[in-house]
Amino acid sequence: MQDTLTLLYWYDRNSRQLPWRTSPSDILSGVKPEPYHVWLSEIMLQQTTVAAVKSYFQTFVLNWPTLADMANAEEEDILKAWAGLGYYSRARNLYKCAKFVQLHHNGRFPEEEERLLKLPGVGPYTAAAISTIAFGRHAAVVDGNVERVLSRRFAILTELPALKAEVKPLMGELTPHDRPGDFAQAMMDLGATVCTPKSPACGICPWMEVCEGRKQGIAETLPRKAPKKVKPTRKGMAFLLSDGGGHVLLRKRQDKGLLAGMSEPVTTHWADDASLDDLSQAPVAANWVRMDKDVKHTFTHFHLEMSVWQAKAPTSFVLPDGYWWSAPDELDGEALPTVMKKALKAGGLI
Ligand code: ADE
Repeated sequence: MQDTLTLLYWYDRNSRQLPWRTSPSDILSGVKPEPYHVWLSEIMLQQTTVAAVKSYFQTFVLNWPTLADMANAEEEDILKAWAGLGYYSRARNLYKCAKFVQLHHNGRFPEEEERLLKLPGVGPYTAAAISTIAFGRHAAVVDGNVERVLSRRFAILTELPALKAEVKPLMGELTPHDRPGDFAQAMMDLGATVCTPKSPACGICPWMEVCEGRKQGIAETLPRKAPKKVKPTRKGMAFLLSDGGGHVLLRKRQDKGLLAGMSEPVTTHWADDASLDDLSQAPVAANWVRMDKDVKHTFTHFHLEMSVWQAKAPTSFVLPDGYWWSAPDELDGEALPTVMKKALKAGGLI
């Protein structure tokens, strides 16, 4: 199909240089993409921008140059390196997947979508992306960029999320058997750099002539989205307890659920009707002082508002099991999710 070739030629001239990517000219001269890099970057890129992922990706491959290195790492170290990227269950699945591939696949990623789908943390998008980008197999890779580009190219008015099911077969038809991985990445680059959500640069688009959305003057309004559900606001409290020497009390969150296995100061259970100033929930009776600013943070399914309290531990305080004192110069290396960093910042500790 002419559309396909036009886009591939555009990609040959305009592809972004990304640390995990094998460029079209390198592929042409026989360089094979590194499946470990493709997998790692695709897991990191789910719902996070390329700009945010670059430095994390580089740290990961510096710390764990091969899949075997990652499989032999400590989970705690992976979580620490992941801190700030969000969606921490992904980091745990990443580690599980590294171990799984090492153990059950001799350290080599399977090439077929169906077999990739069986790996921990690998869903339909990632399976298709790895199969096609790392191994050059034909697969329909549909991410947010592809949804946007194709809904515009064909002026599809169906709202998201139903749109996804319509776009998948279209992407399958457009994807060539020669260079399918480059085609998928070309779609992503087109979506990220030209066919952007707001003010798309239709004037420089390789598909300018064929784009139905542009012809009808509705490109920028696509894809249509079903109205978003309003997120509830949950409330909670964070308690920053220090010892005399400037250490702050931390603990590990439980192994299941939101921010599983990450570190935190003591926090209360977050609920819609929770109190912001119920000191009976503090870890110890002390001279608690509320910080001027509450922490606000938005998770996938709810907003959080958390009051932050600070106190010095009374001499009678005994360190409970699973808790530890973290020194100011150690805080940077703790597996602290962003919301907990905000709480420590509100207390002036970082
Ligand atoms: N977003 C997700 N995966 C990507 C890739 N391989 N190239 C560019 N953008 C991406």
